[in-house]
Amino acid sequence: MRLSLLLTSIFVPLLSFIFYLNFVSMPALSAARAFNALHVPKSYIPTAIFVGGTSGIGQGMAEAFARHTQGNASIILVGRNRKAAEEIIAGFPKPTAPGVKHEFVECDMTLMKTVRRVAGELQARIPRVNFLVLTPGILTLDGRNETEEGIDRKLAVHYYGRWRFIKEMLPSVEAAHAAGEDAKVMSVLAAGQGGAIDLEDLGLKKSFSLPNAAHSAPTYNDIMVIDFAARYPGISFIHGFPGGVNTGLLKASNTGSLRYARFIQPLFSPFLYSVEASGEHQLYALLNAGPGAVRTNAKGDDIGLQKNYYGSAEAMERLWKHTEEETTH
Ligand SMILES: NC(=O)c1ccc[n+]([C@@H]2O[C@H](COP(=O)([O-])OP(=O)(O)OC[C@H]3O[C@@H](n4cnc5c(N)ncnc54)[C@H](OP(=O)(O)O)[C@@H]3O)[C@@H](O)[C@H]2O)c1
Ligand SMILES: *[C@@H]1O[C@H](CO)[C@@H](O)[C@H](O)[C@H]1NC(C)=O
Ligand SMILES: *[C@@H]1O[C@H](CO)[C@@H](O)[C@H](O)[C@H]1NC(C)=O
Repeated sequence: MRLSLLLTSIFVPLLSFIFYLNFVSMPALSAARAFNALHVPKSYIPTAIFVGGTSGIGQGMAEAFARHTQGNASIILVGRNRKAAEEIIAGFPKPTAPGVKHEFVECDMTLMKTVRRVAGELQARIPRVNFLVLTPGILTLDGRNETEEGIDRKLAVHYYGRWRFIKEMLPSVEAAHAAGEDAKVMSVLAAGQGGAIDLEDLGLKKSFSLPNAAHSAPTYNDIMVIDFAARYPGISFIHGFPGGVNTGLLKASNTGSLRYARFIQPLFSPFLYSVEASGEHQLYALLNAGPGAVRTNAKGDDIGLQKNYYGSAEAMERLWKHTEEETTH
């Protein structure tokens, strides 16, 4: 009696919800996949850089890109884990066009001097970059944890390192635009999920807390794409929110309780996007974006620049100046 009540009151709605989710997400996924197949560049061999492409959402996007270009694209995975990168690259369709390759480039995104050096070298070596995608991230319940450069590690990978990497690479992205090719930059973090920021304490040196960091980094990213778009017309700057994705974010955490939470992660997997599905949706966001600033959701659809936006002209000016200083150690 009790059991049947439990079944009907909890499991049946839950199961129908899961089926419903799968049902509603199926057409969107196949539509994204079809769109991507059609809209990867065909008239030239594109170059794409995936910072954070060694795992999770970045990996999913790089794999989708490699599939749709049938390997005929220069693809660079940037991160720390060479072995993971090599395994992912081994799964890509092989390029057949001459001189085209898939490679790994090592870069620790927490250190700005490293970001400047690696991105600077890439920019000097690669004259045209069509797609620059940044997804590096960490999940931790640690408080503020500064690098030798005085930047909190989490803010460094979620914002400062991304900003500096973009800034260094922009001459190559501009060159792609000048050649009439795709010229797009995308940061995947949490568009539309930010909160108010303290302009007197950018970087949270005085007021660091987990909630503060969790709502400041998305707002910094919102402002980042809007400001870059204003300064570099013709180029697309996208800030995406991936929703819940079944990645290795928990496993990679340095917080014990979060690492253990990965054992119950499979329970939630019906509610999470797979890496493959998220890769298609986020690639769709990238390929679909027009010039200027764009914010997108888990499906890759445009959510506009107004909703939950906590920037302003003053915030743009001050954050730009602050970031330039903080990332020029
Ligand atoms: N998964 C979700 O449900 C979800 C939801 C909302 C937002 N997000 C955001 O989406 C982004 C991607 O998350 P994910 O789930 O794909 O995570 P993931 O599977 O753990 O991948 C994280 C990536 O970041 C790279 N990374 C971490 N620290 C780095 C460092 N110091 N230097 C260079 N690269 C570094 C890792 O590369 P190496 O190991 O090679 O260094 C890896 O490629 C994150 O910013 C996350 O906050 C995720
Ligand atoms: C890749 O490019 C080469 C050289 O341009 C071409 O011959 C080949 O057909 C292309 N392969 C695919 C799968 O598009
Ligand atoms: C800070 O981060 C470093 C590198 O991830 C780690 O080794 C160290 O334990 C962290 N310190 C604290 C206090 O969390």
